[in-house]
Amino acid sequence: MAQIIVVTSGKGGVGKTTSSAAIATGLALKGHKTVVIDFDIGLRNLDLIMGCERRVVYDFVNVINGEANLNQALIKDKRCDKLFVLPASQTRDKDALTKEGVGKVLEDLSKDFDYILCDSPAGIETGAMMALYFADTAIVTTNPEVSSVRDSDRILGMLQSRSRRAEQSLEPVKEYLLLTRYAPTRVKTGEMLSVEDVQEILAIPLLGVIPESQSVLKASNSGVPVIVDQQSDAGQAYADAVARLLGEDVPLRFVAEEKKGLLKRIFGS
Ligand SMILES: Nc1ncnc2c1ncn2[C@@H]1O[C@H](COP(=O)(O)OP(=O)(O)O)[C@@H](O)[C@H]1O
Ligand SMILES: [Mg+2]
Repeated sequence: MAQIIVVTSGKGGVGKTTSSAAIATGLALKGHKTVVIDFDIGLRNLDLIMGCERRVVYDFVNVINGEANLNQALIKDKRCDKLFVLPASQTRDKDALTKEGVGKVLEDLSKDFDYILCDSPAGIETGAMMALYFADTAIVTTNPEVSSVRDSDRILGMLQSRSRRAEQSLEPVKEYLLLTRYAPTRVKTGEMLSVEDVQEILAIPLLGVIPESQSVLKASNSGVPVIVDQQSDAGQAYADAVARLLGEDVPLRFVAEEKKGLLKRIFGS
């Protein structure tokens, strides 16, 4: 039986797809058979970030509608043979994701995979609700700003009331905070909330803090999940988050302001 993990947020553009790609890749690199599903019908970002966009023939909605089977639609990652992508449809209407259809696909995948990651669209409409409904675990992706924290809080309410686990009075969805695009210098100047501020408001365990990093854009432009770049700060931070997800005790990094060396202080960075 697979563990179903939703990467969600409420707000758009906070780093859900970046995180889904990184965490799925991290789990697979650790030897767990993992599939990452793009629930963002109409947008199709995940396959670009994963670098498999040219290989998309069938998608999630084709499988739900019985136009293709999972074997035909799953794309095997080039770098890691334990990693698969189920891409989103680019054109279909958003109502294509039905509870029955999604449930059936997840049930089939469950037999064969250790982890199923669901990359949620923004908002609290159908797509986002479908992505979180079947979750065992939720990674609530949040930026250190008030509007993002507010929307994450709303999603926590949804997880606690509208998920399958809530409906069936099962053990609640396990919730984790993933703080992304964190810039310690801007926290210091008061432009951004601190890790402690966000944790105090949302009051859920911290899975990781991902620094704001140039390496994320570089990685997504080249279709390689940033976690593969273990020279980069963001890549290392995602690797730490994956380790914590797997139960390891890893200290936080990249939360303090980088001390500038003498040369940087004189000449700027
Ligand atoms: N840690 C980060 N540092 C810098 N840019 C980031 C980081 N995480 C995400 N981004 C950028 O933010 C934008 C939105 O990210 P994305 O993962 O698509 O968010 P979402 O799926 O929540 O809409 C993208 O341009 C991405 O490159
Ligand atoms: Mg996205």
